[in-house]
Amino acid sequence: MTGTNARHGRNDLDLHWTPTRRVAGCSDDSASYWDFGDRKEDPIHRIHSYPAKFPAFITTKALEYAEQQGLGVNVVADVFCGCGTTAVEAKRNGKNFWGCDINPVATLIAKVKTRHYRDAVLARYFDAIRDEFRRIESSPEDHARVSDRIRYWFEEPNIDDLIRLDRAIRRRTPANSPYRAFFLCGFSNILKPTSRWLTKSIKAQLDPHKSPRGVMDAFEDQFALMRNACGRSRIPTSDRRIRIRTQNFLASREPACRVDLIVTSPPYVTSYDYADIHQLSTLWLRCASDYRALRKNMLGNQYGVKPPAPAAVKSLGATAAETYRRLRREDRRKAHSVARYFLDMDKAVAKCWRMLNASGMAVFVIGNTQYKGVRIDNAKYLANCMERAGFRDIESFPRKVSWKIMTPYRNARGRFTRDSTQRRVYGEEFVVAGRRR
Ligand SMILES: C[S@@+](CC[C@H](N)C(=O)[O-])C[C@H]1O[C@@H](n2cnc3c(N)ncnc32)[C@H](O)[C@@H]1O
Repeated sequence: MTGTNARHGRNDLDLHWTPTRRVAGCSDDSASYWDFGDRKEDPIHRIHSYPAKFPAFITTKALEYAEQQGLGVNVVADVFCGCGTTAVEAKRNGKNFWGCDINPVATLIAKVKTRHYRDAVLARYFDAIRDEFRRIESSPEDHARVSDRIRYWFEEPNIDDLIRLDRAIRRRTPANSPYRAFFLCGFSNILKPTSRWLTKSIKAQLDPHKSPRGVMDAFEDQFALMRNACGRSRIPTSDRRIRIRTQNFLASREPACRVDLIVTSPPYVTSYDYADIHQLSTLWLRCASDYRALRKNMLGNQYGVKPPAPAAVKSLGATAAETYRRLRREDRRKAHSVARYFLDMDKAVAKCWRMLNASGMAVFVIGNTQYKGVRIDNAKYLANCMERAGFRDIESFPRKVSWKIMTPYRNARGRFTRDSTQRRVYGEEFVVAGRRR
């Protein structure tokens, strides 16, 4: 494979995004090594929905790829770990793991997925929770504490049931135990079906025609799904160390630990608003009294971003600075948030470099976006950041996003569809890898 940084200038690496670059050992010429996995995903990956979750096989491929390059991997990290896809796969492959995410809902799911639960204990807790739920009543004070935001999404009978279910879980499971986290994770995943949130929408949108599901009915099904997933999961109950933190990756300059391989997918600018999408869970799980507070420090946040200083724009490199200037002509606020994102990505990539052991590797999965006709080449910019940080042997591989091949359009309500009259979404993203040497 060809290294790229030798060929290009420091500030503006011009990677050639050829469609079929191969990885040694990949036998199929027509597909990228990174397009498809060799096995079905472990059922544990499906216990809670999460937008922008990447396919589980990416981690296994990254481990294989690192080994092909002669890297021995003991500790894997995901610095934007989301719902814990890399964490689960690192554990499945017998590796230690360190990960963080700024979103507490994400880290709750990630922790639950990487723990081991005893089936008989789960069944006992579930019965106790259901009995408690039937027995207890909510009080007028409980209802007085319910926020207007929750009232906007939920009908009164389901609000009452959710108050009782939340209380039953907290009364019948030990505080801070993995079992409490398990049931709260289940509780979190029934919030959209039991509310008037437009089904499968990745935007906060109310469906006035929806008949929300009953709370206990949905919770029973959710428990069955999670119990079944735990029973069928092939993740070994190994002694590997799995550490997952709720934190802003950029909060400190120095990394919390050193690792051999980073496999991560940063947020894409102008893509998802994670605080918005998870507002039901954030509010019910009491992670924040105002879900919008979680936007602060989220990469790609588009609210309340100040204009960047001219020197900061210059430091982005020629391509990103040009993207900023073109966007500013269309929408100043958006342009500022894209510049902020670029600056944050630069810091995040530099911190990843510091986090790696000598000769360690980082594998980023990232897609490009477009706003008002301005193409935002996140992948190319990321490669620029990697070069600035000191990464060597930077390689980029386009990969097809398989589920977007089936439904390559998105309608005005944010739903993916086959309807070709709707807006086309990107069917391709990039795996960008580099070494610390
Ligand atoms: C593309 S998603 C990662 C999805 C993950 N690969 C998975 O499979 O679930 C990006 C994640 O970055 C997180 N994030 C955004 N800003 C962050 C920050 N400053 N520090 C840590 N995590 C952040 C978001 O909450 C989101 O979960």
